[in-house]
Amino acid sequence: MPRRAWEILRQEGFRSLWFHILGETIYRRVLLFERPLSDPIPSASATIPVEISLLKPSEVEEYVAFHPGLDAGEVRDRLDCGGNCFLSRHQGSIVNACWTAEGSVWIDYLGRSLQLARDEAYVYNNYTAPRFRGLNIPAVRAVVMLRHFRELGYRRLVAVVVPENKAAFRPPDKAGYRPIGVIGYIGIGPWRHELMSAWRRRDHK
Ligand SMILES: CC(C)(COP(=O)(O)OP(=O)(O)OC[C@H]1O[C@@H](n2cnc3c(N)ncnc32)[C@H](O)[C@@H]1OP(=O)(O)O)[C@@H](O)C(=O)NCCC(=O)NCCS
Repeated sequence: MPRRAWEILRQEGFRSLWFHILGETIYRRVLLFERPLSDPIPSASATIPVEISLLKPSEVEEYVAFHPGLDAGEVRDRLDCGGNCFLSRHQGSIVNACWTAEGSVWIDYLGRSLQLARDEAYVYNNYTAPRFRGLNIPAVRAVVMLRHFRELGYRRLVAVVVPENKAAFRPPDKAGYRPIGVIGYIGIGPWRHELMSAWRRRDHK
């Protein structure tokens, strides 16, 4: 058994390994979450002091050095398309970042887009530097993000989480997101059947 598969089996169990295998072959799904901005926005604090700001074009190289697997061109494209990246800094260094996008947004894991209404934003690519995890930093950043979009008149934020990514559930949960459905696909090569369940068709296109 490959080393990665063995690690998943040992740490997360057979069910998780099974969905990892399906995810690599014929079946992928994500949980869809919403965070209505009419709900209260409680304050939050992290274990260490952090300052939240929006990524500026002059900071792209610094951000790329912080986040593995992203290149500067892709980051500039995201900014050019109107995306926002909320940075959390501790003692001046980036320790967490999370993106928002609007309009027709791309869900990389599913290889499909999702059309949002004008008063919705998609939250994605939440990432904390490994040695700063478990310090509640995303919760502080989430409060700033929620207030930002509420002040702009947005109705809600949406996000997706891959069910096997257990650590990824806590930040949206703590920020008041709630699951509203599952989207995914089953298919091989060009044949693909899109799946949606408990989908609020009146809210999404
Ligand atoms: C998912 C992720 C952003 C969470 O960031 P974080 O800064 O650790 O978030 P939190 O501080 O809210 O901790 C979340 C949970 O991680 C767990 N955790 C606690 N200490 C931890 C540590 N030292 N290391 C890792 N996880 C820890 C806890 O279950 C915690 O929940 P709790 O607050 O109820 O105890 C981070 O794990 C990460 O960057 N993962 C890789 C990228 C990813 O998968 N992103 C999500 C999909 S977009």
